[in-house]
Amino acid sequence: MAESTYSASDDVVDHFERRWAFVVAGIVAIVFAVIVFTGLHWATQPPSNVETIDASRLHLSGEFVESNLGTALQADGVATVRVIAQQYSFVPSCIVVPTDTPIVIRITSPDVIHGFLIVGTNINTMLVPGYVANVRTRFSTPGEHLMPCHEFCGVGHEGMWARVKVIDKAEFTKLSAGKRRVSCAD
Ligand code: CUA
Repeated sequence: MAESTYSASDDVVDHFERRWAFVVAGIVAIVFAVIVFTGLHWATQPPSNVETIDASRLHLSGEFVESNLGTALQADGVATVRVIAQQYSFVPSCIVVPTDTPIVIRITSPDVIHGFLIVGTNINTMLVPGYVANVRTRFSTPGEHLMPCHEFCGVGHEGMWARVKVIDKAEFTKLSAGKRRVSCAD
C-alpha cells in the first residue's frame, strides 16, 4: 500500500461534497425561514375570528347566559344564533334558523375542546374554551341537518350532537314575533 491514498480526484470529490453540503444547508435554511414566517404570519393575521372570553363565567354573565341562547332576529335582518357546547351536549340541542337570511352562529365551550359541524354544509370548526367561534352562513332551502361534535371530548363524545331546523323565512318571522329568542320548542 502507498503511504497516502490522497489524489487529485479526491480534491474533486471534496469539492462536490462541500457544494452539496451548502445546498442542503440552504434548503434547511429556506424551510426554517418558511416555518418562522408562516408561524408569525398566522399568529398576527389569523384566518378566522379570534375573540376571547372567560370560559369559567359563561353561565354567569355576558352574551352566553342561558336566557340569551338560541336564535334572535336582529334589527339589521341578521339572525344571530348563540350556542354553548359542553360535555356532552349542545345548548340549545335544537336550533331554528330562517331561510334566505344572513345567519351568524356564535358558539363557545366552557370545558374542553369540542367540534362544530353542520352536516350538508361547509360549516366546520373547533370550539376551544376561552375563544368564541363566529360562523357566517345562509341556508337557501328548508330542512333538517345533524350537528354532531366531531372532536373527541370524553366518554360521552359519541352522544354529543344537536339538530338544525331550517324553516321558511315567513314562518320564522311569525314564530319569532314578540319573542327575543327562538328555539325548536317554540
Ligand atoms: Cu364534544 Cu365530542
